Amino acid sequence: MAALVLFGGGGDLAMRMLLPSLYFLEHDGLLPDGLKIIGAARSDESRDDYVAKVRASVEGKAKADDAWTEAAWKRMEARLDYVAVDATSAESLKPLKDKVGAGTCTSFLAVSPSLYARIVTAMRAAGLAEAGDRVVLEKPVGRDLESFREIDDAVADAFSENQVFRIDHYLGKETVQNLIALRFGNTIFEPLWNSLSIDHVQITVGETVGVGDRWPYYDEYGALRDMLQNHVLQLLCLVAMEPPSDLDPDSVRNEKVKVIRSLRPITAHEAERVTVRGQYVAGLSDGASVEGYQTERGQPSDTETFVAVRVDIDNWRWAGTPFFLRTGKRLAEKRTEIVIQFKPVPHSIFDHGERGHIAANRLIIALQPEEDISLSVMNKKPGLDQRMQLQPIQMSLSWGQDDKGAKPPRRRVAYERLLLDALNGDSTLFVRRDEAEQAWKWIDEVSEAWEGAAFKPKDYVAGTWGPQEAGYLLSRTGRQWNSVDA
Ligand code: BG6
Repeated sequence: MAALVLFGGGGDLAMRMLLPSLYFLEHDGLLPDGLKIIGAARSDESRDDYVAKVRASVEGKAKADDAWTEAAWKRMEARLDYVAVDATSAESLKPLKDKVGAGTCTSFLAVSPSLYARIVTAMRAAGLAEAGDRVVLEKPVGRDLESFREIDDAVADAFSENQVFRIDHYLGKETVQNLIALRFGNTIFEPLWNSLSIDHVQITVGETVGVGDRWPYYDEYGALRDMLQNHVLQLLCLVAMEPPSDLDPDSVRNEKVKVIRSLRPITAHEAERVTVRGQYVAGLSDGASVEGYQTERGQPSDTETFVAVRVDIDNWRWAGTPFFLRTGKRLAEKRTEIVIQFKPVPHSIFDHGERGHIAANRLIIALQPEEDISLSVMNKKPGLDQRMQLQPIQMSLSWGQDDKGAKPPRRRVAYERLLLDALNGDSTLFVRRDEAEQAWKWIDEVSEAWEGAAFKPKDYVAGTWGPQEAGYLLSRTGRQWNSVDA
């Protein structure tokens, strides 16, 4: 019988995300028959106490989603077990190995990444890294290329690459996968998906939350390493990659890694022109006054809570089409979107005045707060005007257009998809070692460029879209972000 071991099984990630996701999978009958779920953590508690804690964290979420049934819970409860371990000691892992038994084991490391190397070494010695076993790693693995390699070398000593599942939870989001369907399941977009038709691409990952209590981690990472290195670059890869030959994990990841290799390095000389660093100061968030980052932190800090970058991809498809990326905390809205801005028509046959203005087509792939894909196209305003009047209309390509009246499927937590894929050994939506390495290499160059140029973050007021320089990044080239301060 197979087992899923959650190291850090009593921690925040496990309780808030992993166990509720497992419950939803259980509810929908998607967990493999006989799978055991074993929480492993330091605290010395009984199975009953652990099960009660899991129930408390799962029940509310499931009820809020109308997905709570005693029957599903009973099935999940029967799978659950708990072992107190020091995961860095092979000796201490023995009782866990006994519980796992002879079946294959998928271990999810929901613990501090600083422990990864020691844990995988102990797992190997304890027989938890046999052929067929798998390990799932949460980000951040490392803080730069060197520290990533150090940890990953230890992982590679215990597991071969096809047993390692590096999570980027953005890849588990439904719309991110839909992007692949949109691009490669249709003929109408792909011929236009290049610099001949696309003027530029914007990727925004905006959050309204501040750093708050997470500053001990965040202050060391900043927005560049916390968000751009992983989530934002992954979105960029899926937009920019060449069509893979199939959906095999390596076919997709080969294409993604080629994109990261083609990102133009940012030099100290260029940093000021193509990057913006920001840090929030006191302002408003969702209508309430909030403190600035340094006040939360309790001392001065040069860590960026916002980053915007103009990225050029030096390959045939994208030469001449810049990608503008931005992400930050305490921004005006929680909004994640990819904007594909097409070029204007080459010549307008319409009146050049306001009435005949032609807005270039724009495809907006919204991931958060709502999932939606919409295309703006020009249309004739109905009426008998002597001169034709035009207006842009939004065509929504979202789920439901074809299923009028049907209830949309429940919005799934990204971890449901990723846990299921890890359990099934499908690594398409996980990050391969060379991808992560290339991403760190590029990020290290940006960070060195900032150091070389003594480039400090600019202040922005909490509740806005970041420092005004982020606006200049586009306006300097005659463009504008899709979401801007009112
Ligand atoms: C995490 C970052 O990876 O992603 C957090 O460490 C961030 O800082 C979070 O808040 C955002 O995820 P989501 O799914 O809420 O957009």
